[in-house]
Amino acid sequence: MPFLQTTKLKTISQHINEAQNMHPEATGEFTSILNDLAFAVRIISRDVRRAGLNDILGLTKDTNYHGEQVRKLDTYANDVIKSSMKRSGHICIMASEEDDDIILNPVQNKKAKYVFVFDPLDGSSNIDVNVTIGTIFGLYKRIDPNSEDPGTIDDVIQEGYKQVAASYALFGSSTIFAYTTGQGVDFFTYDPTLGEFILTKENVRMPTKGKSYSANEGYYNKWSKEMQQYIDYLKTIASDKSRPYSLRYIGTAVADVHRTILNGGIFIYPSDSSMPKGKLRIVYEANALAMLIEQAGGRATDGTRRILDIKPEAIHQRTPLFAGSVEDVLECEQFLRGEHPFQK
Ligand code: AHG
Ligand code: MN
Ligand code: MN
Repeated sequence: MPFLQTTKLKTISQHINEAQNMHPEATGEFTSILNDLAFAVRIISRDVRRAGLNDILGLTKDTNYHGEQVRKLDTYANDVIKSSMKRSGHICIMASEEDDDIILNPVQNKKAKYVFVFDPLDGSSNIDVNVTIGTIFGLYKRIDPNSEDPGTIDDVIQEGYKQVAASYALFGSSTIFAYTTGQGVDFFTYDPTLGEFILTKENVRMPTKGKSYSANEGYYNKWSKEMQQYIDYLKTIASDKSRPYSLRYIGTAVADVHRTILNGGIFIYPSDSSMPKGKLRIVYEANALAMLIEQAGGRATDGTRRILDIKPEAIHQRTPLFAGSVEDVLECEQFLRGEHPFQK
């Protein structure tokens, strides 16, 4: 690439530092946390791409809190993130999908005022079939920023609108790092020849309406009648060619949400007769994804309530998730209320 073009490249560190300069209240602590996060993602990216060679595929004998068999890459990613995020000393408490209880930070400094929640490996069922997987992160300030004590569970189960940053990494055909601090969503693509994340899309905005839906239709017969009617509606041939929608479902929420942010449409993981509270977890999956979807101009609810307004009562609490283009999510909610003309 000619020199001139390379001078236009902006790394994630430059971008984060620039953002810090624009926001005087942004402290160096916040910047160092985001840089530690990007470092952890680089390590996981390297090993995800070598998983088959490194023999970190396949199942461990462990099962996690949810009774799901844990694949080696989940525990490996969990360990990488925990050690990388402890190092800064700015994090007073963490929560992970792979840890039953809260994770305290033994090396926290007295003024540690950040709380970090994460799903170390999202889409585990896709690990050993070489399909895109990801990682999800949420960052909060602790409830009492002047406290010098270890963090508590209350710091971890805050409402999602209190997140100071949300992010995901996507290990697909390339490694993408998306993050927002509430001023829009930026995407970075990892360039292994530079060993850097390069800014590739700034202030991403999703279409207000899409042409695709994303749901596991295998569970159709376990859904409510209203949910079935919405999916039937999307598949009906409309004279104005606005339907049928196409179906895209990867089974990794990060990948399905990333596509939805770029192309529009709706990602749905509803409750059903066997999972009355839904499958996705509020604290370290839905909240971060919801902040990113909203910051890209979309909508994210549990079918009635804004995800970011829900007060979690437990670390691993589940929720239904309807996320994507505003018009699509609003139309789906109309079906869930039984108020759409198609249902008459
Ligand atoms: P995780 O691998 O972290 O447990 O998350 C998997 C989640 C989510 O990524 C995805 O949307 C959903 O599980 C897929 O569930 P189904 O296989 O039931 O469709
Ligand atoms: Mn997950
Ligand atoms: Mn996971």
